[in-house]
Amino acid sequence: MSFTIVEPATARLNRSELAVPGSRTELFEKAARSAVDVLFMDLEDAVAPDEKPQARKNVIQALNEVDWGDKVVSVRINGLDTPYMYRDVVDIVENCPRLDMIMIPKAGTAADIYAVDMLVTQIEMAKGRTKRLGLEMIIESALGMQNVEAIAAASKRNEALHFGVADYAASIKARTTNIGGANPYYTMLSDADSEGVRHTHWGDVWHYALARMVVAARANGLRALEGPYGDFKDPDGFRASARRAAALGCEGKWAIHPTQIALANEEFTPSEADITQAKRILEAMEQAQREGKGAVALDGRLIDIASIKQAEVLVKKAEMIAAR
Ligand code: COA
Ligand code: MG
Repeated sequence: MSFTIVEPATARLNRSELAVPGSRTELFEKAARSAVDVLFMDLEDAVAPDEKPQARKNVIQALNEVDWGDKVVSVRINGLDTPYMYRDVVDIVENCPRLDMIMIPKAGTAADIYAVDMLVTQIEMAKGRTKRLGLEMIIESALGMQNVEAIAAASKRNEALHFGVADYAASIKARTTNIGGANPYYTMLSDADSEGVRHTHWGDVWHYALARMVVAARANGLRALEGPYGDFKDPDGFRASARRAAALGCEGKWAIHPTQIALANEEFTPSEADITQAKRILEAMEQAQREGKGAVALDGRLIDIASIKQAEVLVKKAEMIAAR
């Protein structure tokens, strides 16, 4: 193992994350009562330019008046290249003590994160805000992907990176037909088999982007999340997309419609086997401590500090799921 220990971000259950347009106030209570782990009220692309000021007011009111229970609540601010973003941050952080996270869309460079962190920190000091405010970033541009490692490391507030497939596709000028589904252009034709038939093999066009983002997130102790699956009438497609994201290291996925919440929660719940193994690791560690041993071993193998930290995170997650 490296001498560098990766500190995990604030432990939160984040199997699902619901997008709620800030202009649709009738959805706020429904989102609060849903089974989602995290939700973000959106001030960015789901809100038309004329509606931005009203949406901001709606969100502030909802953060103060809706009973969000134990939900993690985030707000997606507008991009740093817009005339809306500074007021999003100032008004919302000043007036919403309940807020858990800010979501930064189209993060392009580490300086973008630094700028938001600076604003948030000043407001905290000025207003005596005590609740910790985290940052989650959407990687959804060529620039953001080029700088993803620096973005992931840019602030101690960082908690998660999200892969925003639709804007990313537009940014890299990829030829796509849908949001987050399979791509009929991204195939290979096999050589002819013994019957002379050639088979089409579908690939995952987002494999590289998602894998690259996951590495940057995990190397900095952050959660990695897969973004939207546009066709909310296609649960099988959603599950397949979520499952392959989980296989690559993601721990959650967006829901853009309530029907996708249960699917995401199911697909990203850790297996019983993984939880049992994590508990065994922690028990082995406690036993080693009781016996005054420096090294922890399980099943004849040395357990490193990183594995113990991972086990702690997983057991905590299992407890949070059980508490639901
Ligand atoms: N949060 C909470 N509740 C929601 C919801 C959301 N994002 N989207 C829909 N609902 C509710 C509806 O109000 C409706 O409730 P009801 O049964 O009490 O009437 C129920 O879920 C079924 O919704 P439905 O009628 O099928 O959807 P819709 O036509 O109202 O809205 C969308 C469809 C896609 C416009 C809507 O789901 C939405 O705005 N999603 C978020 C999209 C978004 O933010 N995109 C930006 C990020 S990619
Ligand atoms: Mg986007």
